[in-house]
Amino acid sequence: MSYNDRPIGIFDSGLGGLTVFKALRKLLPEENIIYFGDTARVPYGTKSKEAVIAFSKEIAAYLLSKDIKLLVVACNTASSLALTEIRKISGVPVLGVIEPGAREALEGGEARRVLVIGTSATVSSRAYSLALKKNDASIYVAEKACPLFVPLAEEGWCSGRVAAAAAEKYLGPQKRKGFDTIILGCTHYPLLKKIISAALGPGVRVVDSAMAAARSAKAELEAGGLLRAGLRPPKADEFIVSDAPDKFKGLALKLLKIKTGKVKVMRF
Ligand code: DGL
Repeated sequence: MSYNDRPIGIFDSGLGGLTVFKALRKLLPEENIIYFGDTARVPYGTKSKEAVIAFSKEIAAYLLSKDIKLLVVACNTASSLALTEIRKISGVPVLGVIEPGAREALEGGEARRVLVIGTSATVSSRAYSLALKKNDASIYVAEKACPLFVPLAEEGWCSGRVAAAAAEKYLGPQKRKGFDTIILGCTHYPLLKKIISAALGPGVRVVDSAMAAARSAKAELEAGGLLRAGLRPPKADEFIVSDAPDKFKGLALKLLKIKTGKVKVMRF
């Protein structure tokens, strides 16, 4: 196997990272990709920094053992808390989703009042505020944790009355605060994009980092001369979870129209 033939590894706590997987697949159709969802330990967003670092390093080491050429941390919580630690153990480039998401929000220069929503851990880390203000110190940023959105998505309840009530409870009070942009700072949240957008009302630009993260992965591979172009067609995508493979397979199809084929199980 030539070096460029090696797969891209990507992981999340569960199925949220599939939003990034989908963008990667679209932008890099010739690449081999391995996706890992830590379904046994989801959610990460309510756990301690130490736990998120330990889980993330375990998964990173596992994917590195599969000879990946790039690791995409498709989880805002792990990107906020564990990126530095993952990079210490990785011999290949490691990309998170925070920087690309912040850059995407600032593109066009119209964002002045930004609301970031994410898990409790991501919001406490202030990672988005730091990334946004590094680019533009004058920008106003508020962050709000919406922890129930993750279990709702993992349950497949991305629309309907319960999801809408949760969105209204979290975001209704934000409506009159004059935000022009909202960043979906959790890879699960694009699955609830419609109800999130409805709860905030019209005129608020909704930014998710999936495509931005995929673009940064492509740029990283290009810069390193690591693109797989011109070789044989890619292998079938590999999906691995730490528990409940059939539920993952069903929800990937239902929520994202992704046909995973057989989902393998890896228990740590
Ligand atoms: N999807 C992840 C994120 O982007 C993690 C959600 C969770 O497990 O709490 O933050």
